[in-house]
Amino acid sequence: MHYRTHHCGELRLADAGKEVKLSGWVQISRDFGGLTFVDLRDRYGITQLVFNMDDNEALCEQARGLGREFVISVEGIVRERSNKNPNRDTGDVEIDVRVLSILNASEVPPFTIEEESDGGDDLRMKYRYLDMRRDPVKEKILFRSQLAFETRRYLIDQAFVEVETPVLIKSTPEGARDFVVPSRMNQGQFYALPQSPQTFKQILMIAGFDRYFQIVKCFRDEDLRADRQPEFTQIDCEMSFVSREDVLQTFEGLTKHLFQKLIGIELPAFPRMSYDEAIHHYGSDKPDLRFGMMIRDLSSMARGHGFNVFDQAEIVAGIVAAGQAAAYSNKDINKLTDWVKRPQIGAKGLVYVKYNEDQTFKSSIGKFYDDAVLKSWCEAIGAVPGDLVLVLSGEKDKTLKQLGELRLEMGRRMELMDPNDFKPLWVLDFPLLEWDEEAERFHAMHHPFTAPKEHDIDRMLSGDHETMKSLRADAYDLVLNGAEIAGGSIRIHDRSLQEKNFDLLGFTPEEAREQFGFLMGAFEYGAPPHGGIAFGFDRLCALMKGSQSIRDFIAFPKNNTGRDVMIDAPAMVSKEQLDELGLALKKAD
Ligand code: AMO
Repeated sequence: MHYRTHHCGELRLADAGKEVKLSGWVQISRDFGGLTFVDLRDRYGITQLVFNMDDNEALCEQARGLGREFVISVEGIVRERSNKNPNRDTGDVEIDVRVLSILNASEVPPFTIEEESDGGDDLRMKYRYLDMRRDPVKEKILFRSQLAFETRRYLIDQAFVEVETPVLIKSTPEGARDFVVPSRMNQGQFYALPQSPQTFKQILMIAGFDRYFQIVKCFRDEDLRADRQPEFTQIDCEMSFVSREDVLQTFEGLTKHLFQKLIGIELPAFPRMSYDEAIHHYGSDKPDLRFGMMIRDLSSMARGHGFNVFDQAEIVAGIVAAGQAAAYSNKDINKLTDWVKRPQIGAKGLVYVKYNEDQTFKSSIGKFYDDAVLKSWCEAIGAVPGDLVLVLSGEKDKTLKQLGELRLEMGRRMELMDPNDFKPLWVLDFPLLEWDEEAERFHAMHHPFTAPKEHDIDRMLSGDHETMKSLRADAYDLVLNGAEIAGGSIRIHDRSLQEKNFDLLGFTPEEAREQFGFLMGAFEYGAPPHGGIAFGFDRLCALMKGSQSIRDFIAFPKNNTGRDVMIDAPAMVSKEQLDELGLALKKAD
């Protein structure tokens, strides 16, 4: 059977008079006595159908029986509409229906299939196939497909080769927990699902592929947030014979290409900032550059005035909330103080200085600092009359991080974060190692294959414990509007340096051999210098469309307890399956 001559978004006034056949879902049916109107929907759009009682009573009766989401096929003539709908591409025409076939009936959907749905999150996820019929969700999935297509086009044009890497592998060291899969043929042993294809892409460089990419699923068993899923997709890339500059240029190019092709935005050259600068000025390794409000150090000006808290603090620093002096009453300041004291932020208190429009000052620490001192603070920090200065103090790393959070909160409150404004940034020169006070060991800040900066190699090979804390990595992140959308590094390609790194990370030579022997072995057979990067594909989709949550850009996402509520997974398996895997619980004797 021939189901359609056109789709539901296609017909225009120029088609008037044509005999056509359309198929799709009933969006809505309206009965006006003599006339019944039906909106017919498919992926491409909506076309209005008319059934006229005077022409064909039986047909009209049949149309009256149509419910929402019935699947139908109609034949008819395209007519000009007397009452046009300028909001719809097909709004100038309607189909005068002559033949109606009901292809499938439908239950009444549990929520409305419209732009705005009345369905809650769980209900929408359970009936995801209905949810995806809604325009906003459908468009996100279509956008994703286009983004993948343009990614492939750009990278293949640049001589990248798409290679698939396995999903049943051994643990990869990206720092999250692994999902594991029991092996039937090797009982008692488990595969791990890849947290990323990191080791495979490095092996592909040793194999001589020169430029690799893959749009690939990665799996991480970590706590979920709006921008995190347990299975997510990366645009994973690796290049041989490259320096950091080559990688940054190539992927700045990819990002610009995607923005231009998909949302028509020409991004200017991406600014760059070292990790240290980012922490000092924004209290974060992923600064949101859509607004300023940089952190300024006030330590030297704050000390020596008899205010104990500041005198004893490693750092006193603040931000300026422009024009907010009058907007914050004492009550508001108290609320903001409670906000910074929440355990998630962890500040001990908040000091404010209001630089009033009339050039007077009001501050929570006015009795220690007279107006002249407060004025000098305001001048140093760049505040002008009308501004509110917010100050935190304490241990340096913690205080900067807290100020970073406060800066973001003020940015939100002051509506400085326009989702349609795009501010990319390369953050460079991350520390190589992170000291874990509790576990008393180093962790790799990126991953164990990341190379130190060239000028730090000797210090890494011969330095003492303290030296190790100051080593910098040839690692980079691409940050967009305060979110990390890509991360990568130049890799170690020398076996002895890699061994030293494993040693620093607390692996015994045996453990390193057991876990990464294959890579170390490959390093023995001519490893080229190489480096790469991976983009969070879901995050990139969401950010480009101005959305915080990646879920709607994933056709079948997990909820925030890691469940797929449509298929109801994870689920128990049968005893037989467990037996076969050698996992059955043994009965106590
Ligand atoms: P990294 O761990 O930084 O690097 O991951 C790369 C990017 O993947 C995205 N991402 C996630 N997106 C959604 N849900 C998650 N749970 C999630 N975790 C990470 C982020 C991140 O920037 N192998 C290295 C890359 C390399 O060195 O080349 C890696 O995986 O946007």
